[in-house]
Amino acid sequence: MYAAIKSIGSYVPNEKRNNQWFVDRMDTSDDWITKRTGISTRRIANKDEQTSDMGVQASKIAIQRAGLTIDDIDLIICATISPDYYCMPSTACIIGQKLGTKDVMAMDISAACTGFVYALSIAKAFIESNMKKNILIIGAEKLSSIVDYTDRTTCMLFGDGAGASIISATNDKNEAIIDIQCSSDGNLKDLLLTPNILNGEKQFIQMKGNETFKIAVKTLVRDVQDIMKKNSMKNTDIDLFIPHQANYRILKVVGDALKFEEKQKIITVQKYGNTSSASIPMAMNDAYENNKLKYGDTILLDAFGGGLTWGSAIFRFAGKNINDNK
Ligand SMILES: CC(C)(COP(=O)(O)OP(=O)(O)OC[C@H]1O[C@@H](n2cnc3c(N)ncnc32)[C@H](O)[C@@H]1OP(=O)(O)O)[C@@H](O)C(=O)NCCC(=O)NCCS
Repeated sequence: MYAAIKSIGSYVPNEKRNNQWFVDRMDTSDDWITKRTGISTRRIANKDEQTSDMGVQASKIAIQRAGLTIDDIDLIICATISPDYYCMPSTACIIGQKLGTKDVMAMDISAACTGFVYALSIAKAFIESNMKKNILIIGAEKLSSIVDYTDRTTCMLFGDGAGASIISATNDKNEAIIDIQCSSDGNLKDLLLTPNILNGEKQFIQMKGNETFKIAVKTLVRDVQDIMKKNSMKNTDIDLFIPHQANYRILKVVGDALKFEEKQKIITVQKYGNTSSASIPMAMNDAYENNKLKYGDTILLDAFGGGLTWGSAIFRFAGKNINDNK
């Protein structure tokens, strides 16, 4: 039995927050933010909109595009660092409740910006071991709730949103996820963290931006080189390279080092900012809705985030094309 990616969907909140919003509130400029990050806008959830609500919207689209119903889903995995509740219940349980699943296993995973790739690898393992058939994986974040809007070095980077995908069992090897590799290094935990709230510290994201930047570039490049070599693949075997969207400069340096052509790269950071675990599925959905991500295409994902964690995946997209799915 193989695991196949049967669909992608996403949800973005209505509010578009442009760089002027930050200029009006702190010592920064549109020029600095644009040049150093490439970000022009991010989407911000409203007060009553929880991470689970965004996850539900993305999930409904992913389930419908996979040609399934809620009753077909036998596992829900939500990757998030901004869950509705601290520790419990998991956001995956709440998404299941809001979707109307019955007695379905549901859990969150915490792997920061690598969360979607981690979730994909867990889904693959559950399917290949014949334990589950149709798994809903979600990356959903309300990062605006854990961003310190007095810290000009981090706050302009992050946005809210959600992406979701259905991973199903198949006998067709051509539709199978080819490979996934995930790693971590807790020695570098202090580069990017939210403080220990058990000690009463504030919940806001703290980042050593410059150091993180350099390690992100090296790690993302090395990880892609490893997975490509392991699978005897070259750049021309890849239709789309979809990296985690943290900063345009990181994407540019990584894309250039790996020698991908412009048409192979999917870049959405300019309009959504960094949405952590939601960034890769949101970028995949953008490519899908623009008819760039099509059935049979070979896709390379590459993620990096707090933990530190990192991971990459190569798969053939096994969902229907957008034009056949309206
Ligand atoms: C955060 C980030 C955009 C900062 O860019 P940078 O080029 O590294 O900038 P630095 O931190 O070296 O700061 C350069 C200067 O700009 C200043 N600066 C920082 N934020 C600023 C802002 N919003 N507006 C204006 N100036 C700012 C700094 O104070 C510093 O001033 P100094 O030289 O007088 O000390 C960048 O480091 C980054 O994107 N890091 C990694 C992000 C990432 O990958 N995160 C998560 C991985 S998932």
